[in-house]
This record gives sequence, structure tokens and C-alpha cells, in this order.
Amino acid sequence: MTAWTPDSWRDAPILQQPRYPDPISLQAALDELRQRPPLVTAGEIRGLRAELAAAQQGDCFVLQGGDCAESFAECRPEIIANRLRVLLQMSLVLTHGLKQRVLRIGRFAGQYAKPRSADTETRDGLELPSFRGDLVNGPEFTAQARAPQPARLLQAHACSALSLNYVRALIEGGFADLHHPENWDLAWMQHTAQVGAYEKLVAEIENAVGFFETLSGQRMEHLDRVRLYSSHEALLLAYEAALTHQDRDGAYYNLGCHLPWIGMRTAQPDHAHVEYCRGIANPVGIKLGPGMSPEWLQELLEALNPERQPGRLLLIHRFGAGRLEQGLPDLIETVRRSGQPVLWLCDPMHGNTHSTADGIKTRDFSAILEELLAAFRVHRACGSRLGGVHLELTGEDVTECTGGARSLSAEDLKRRYQSTVDPRLNGEQALELAMAIATEAGARA
Ligand code: PEP
Ligand code: CO
Repeated sequence: MTAWTPDSWRDAPILQQPRYPDPISLQAALDELRQRPPLVTAGEIRGLRAELAAAQQGDCFVLQGGDCAESFAECRPEIIANRLRVLLQMSLVLTHGLKQRVLRIGRFAGQYAKPRSADTETRDGLELPSFRGDLVNGPEFTAQARAPQPARLLQAHACSALSLNYVRALIEGGFADLHHPENWDLAWMQHTAQVGAYEKLVAEIENAVGFFETLSGQRMEHLDRVRLYSSHEALLLAYEAALTHQDRDGAYYNLGCHLPWIGMRTAQPDHAHVEYCRGIANPVGIKLGPGMSPEWLQELLEALNPERQPGRLLLIHRFGAGRLEQGLPDLIETVRRSGQPVLWLCDPMHGNTHSTADGIKTRDFSAILEELLAAFRVHRACGSRLGGVHLELTGEDVTECTGGARSLSAEDLKRRYQSTVDPRLNGEQALELAMAIATEAGARA
């Protein structure tokens, strides 16, 4: 193996990259990115690694969630705050039900690049490049919007900074304070059985906190703050490499997010994405699914964590309900034999996507829940542990996934479908899912 540098991936085969028509302005944008202040620090990344190492020991449960694809147009305060509200509500429910600390990781502040199944899209005889996320091009079906534009790299970086800054400021200002969970109510959520159960749980927790503080005569200060880490798919490697810097400890960190992950379509062991990720000191996620053989996984584990360091690898499986039982046990066995400390997450979204008769991309709540519950079961049966979930969700009142307490139908999807890529759980569905996990998995905790 040759020496790693932030650019050594350039010598390896690579998939899912756009072709920029203007290499000079691409270079200028990358040079500018390289000199900008980082979005996160190496110290924070080391902190996350320590927390993930603890999670691998069973000390906490990971909730990773957010948009499939963020967009510049949705870099708005209400949308950012609502996403944070849902993640806080869900983590409260999970902490209570699983009797475990919850580590929150947002799919946000940089989730702007998307892998696509085809390089081009044809409509009415016109063939244009596929939409690859706001980091690369625009979703509108015009030649101008679909041409990759280097200026978008700078805009994505700026929107990531704005999002992260707002979340940090909200948390610092007491928004996540467990003494005031009423901050987390979503105005649009109406009274359903789930919302009622959630309100009851919040009242119970408020009482318990109040009781403890009266008893001890002290305010529980540490309830004021939570940490929220940022993550995205490390897809457009020119962007990721430009944000990669050497720290004083000598290691290289991707300072564009705390946790980058390698997508299903770019996880070939001898390809560029694995080459890039093997040299950075961030924790790294790998998506696994149907078609990944034990040998392939073994190669990935060796390439990405040859020293078997704790807190380094998250394996995020996304098989689809009905396929997990068949595919997962062999991979669990591979990890067990390798002696690798990993954290297993279940992504019950990406294996459960289908189109309705009207051609609308959706996922059904019951399939999502079924895959998640099967994941808990299979890990337990194999002597392993499911350490977290990876979800596509929003705090907005969208209708993108069918089912859930309101039984959203294929017809309902036409009302408020806003995602430009994959369908997300809305706030109510996300909360309902957290409650179901808490009830089912918590009962055995
Ligand atoms: C995603 O997480 O949005 C995604 C494209 O997932 P996967 O790589 O698992 O298909
Ligand atoms: Co997606």
C-alpha cells in the first residue's frame, strides 16, 4: 500500500463524481475552501471518538438522523430548530425507554451531496446530468441548473457553517435544557395518542427532576446542555479533501464534520472513498447492505481500522425488511472473527424505498419499524448488540412516508412532499418510531 495523503485517493478508481466543465474555477473554489476556518475542531472529533468507544461498550445508544439531502433553500432557522426539536424529543423518549444515555448525531450541516443510480436523466427526449445534491448542481430540469458549479462548494460550506452555528447557539442558550422541554413542541403536531403519550412522559420527567432537585437542594446543571455532532456522506472527495487538515497531534482530520460516512455505492475496498477515509482520524461510518460479502467487509475493516482502535468504525446496515434476517448474521460473524470493535447501527430507510402507482418514491412506516425490530432481534440472537439507529427525518409537517398513526396513504403523499431525493419521516412519525423502539427494545433492556 502506498503512503496516504489527503489527495492519495486521486490515484484510485472513483465513482459518483461530477465532471466540472470549468476546472480553473473548480480549483479556485477548492483553494478558497482550504483556507476557510474549519466547521468543527479536532478536539471535538476526538471527543466523539471517545463517546463512540463508550457506545461500543454498551454505555449509550446512538441516534443519527436528519435530511436525506439538505438544500440551500432550507437553510432556515425554523427548519433547523424543528429538526433539533425532533431529535431532542426522540432522544428523551429513547433515554427513558432504553434506560441509556443517547448520543445524538445529526445528518446535517453538510449533507449536500447525493449518489445517483444513473449519471444522466432523460425527460421527453432531453438528456441532462442527474441532480447530485446542492453541493454539485440544482434539482431543476434545465441544462443550466444541472451543470456542476464550483461556486456551490463555497455555498454548501457557508450553509453548513450557518446551520451548525445556529444549532450550537440554540444549545448554548438553553434550548436543549431538560428543565424546559416545552421548547421542543412542534406547533403543527396535533393531539394523537403518540403526542399524548409523549406529553405524559415529559410531565413524568419534569416531576422527577423537580423532586430530585428539591431533595438535593441543588439544580442539576448538566441537564442544561447536550451535544449534537454533525455527519454527512463523504461523497465529493475534492470537497472533503479540501477540508482535511493536519492537527498538532500529527493526524489528519476532516474538519467539515465530526463523522463522515462511506455510502453503499462507493464502498469498494480498492476505490477512492475507502482510500480517503483510511487516512483521516475521524470516526467513519460504512453503509452495508445486500450484496456485501463477508470477504468484502473483512477487507473494509482491515483497510479502515488495521489497528482495531475503539471508537473508529460504525457499521450502518440497510438491508430492507425481509432481507435483514438473511443477510446480517454472516456480517456479524465476520466482525466477531476479525476482533474489530465496531458500533452497529440500523438504517431502516434505504432498503425500504419503493414507488407508488403514481411514481412517487416512498417508504412505509410499518416496513421501517419491522426492519428496526428485526435488527434488535437478530443482533441479540447472534450475541451482538444494536448500538443505534440511522434515520431520514425532518421536523416539518411533510407527507413523504406512508403509514404511521395517521395512516398516511399514497394519495396523501401528493399534499406535502418536499424532499428532492428520498422520503423522510415527519416529526410525528419520527416520534412514533422512537416510542416503538423504546417500548419493544426497552422491554428487554
Ligand atoms: C443515504 O444515506 O442517503 C444513502 C444514499 O444511503 P445508501 O448509501 O445506504 O444507499
Ligand atoms: Co437517502
